[in-house]
Amino acid sequence: MELRKKLIIDTDCGSDDAMAIAMALRDPRYEILCFTTVTGNVDARQAAQNTLFTIEEAGSYEPPVYLGCETPLLVPFVGAMETHGQDGMGDMGLVPKRLKVSEGNGVLKIAELLRESEPGEIDIITLGTLTNIALAMRLFPDEMRKVGRIVMMGTAGLGTGNVTPVAEFNIWQDAEAAKIVFEFGVPLMAVGWDACIDDAMLEQEDLDRLISSGPLGKVMVECNRVLMSLNRERFGRDCLDMADPAAMAAALCPECIAECDDYYCEVETAHGIAYGGVLVDYYHFSGKPANCAVCSRLNPSVYKDYIFRTLGA
Ligand code: RIB
Ligand code: CA
Repeated sequence: MELRKKLIIDTDCGSDDAMAIAMALRDPRYEILCFTTVTGNVDARQAAQNTLFTIEEAGSYEPPVYLGCETPLLVPFVGAMETHGQDGMGDMGLVPKRLKVSEGNGVLKIAELLRESEPGEIDIITLGTLTNIALAMRLFPDEMRKVGRIVMMGTAGLGTGNVTPVAEFNIWQDAEAAKIVFEFGVPLMAVGWDACIDDAMLEQEDLDRLISSGPLGKVMVECNRVLMSLNRERFGRDCLDMADPAAMAAALCPECIAECDDYYCEVETAHGIAYGGVLVDYYHFSGKPANCAVCSRLNPSVYKDYIFRTLGA
């Protein structure tokens, strides 16, 4: 059997993270060494409980979950409860039945796993703010330089922000951390929010297929019910912009990618109207070398088929 690619997944597990986590757990080509949680959608402790619930629901193997940083580096925690619910999972009372958070700090665990790895052996996928990754880079630069690549759900890609006209939430909730990550110098791919909307939006027929496929597909849609009601207002119909599943698909199933190019990217940390925006130097005005591959569009049918295949729908 071909060696499985090793992954660390860092998450602020809200309801769209949950779908992405279940997808990754059920793709046999990858081995998730651990999950680390970070404050973003909800606080890192709640994100850990949501991750444990999702691992149980996915019915696959059960990697350890470690608690990471519980506050952004400098800015206050705001969260995204209006999008994912107070508990991050649609306020349905979804709790793990059996699994517990593992002993040890998530940032230290990332460094430990990389220290023990061969260069390039482990990829990191981030689904939340970049606080843990930034701290690992500051505290353990030699270890972090051994990472294969970091694939993030983050930035507005080549489109509009989702918390301000220019800023996407994962960057906006800790732009100082994001600046550290973008300037560190390891291979990065940022999957922008624009990759999960328009023709990549999960529409009613997609949602019906997931709901009718069984308990996992059903709960992965239902836990996104707060986002669904928000979208009824924002887009005028039942639909789900699944940002983390889009990033997971781009990371684990590159055939899903329709547009992805290398650009010089810079994070705005000045506390003005553009805070948390990531300037993508599309026309190379800066003359600076590219530091990030920006994935701005997925192939809708390939992407959705990947979701259905991994979730058993
Ligand atoms: O902007 C969308 C991102 O912010 C997703 O990762 C969502 O879970 C929140 O973390
Ligand atoms: Ca997330």
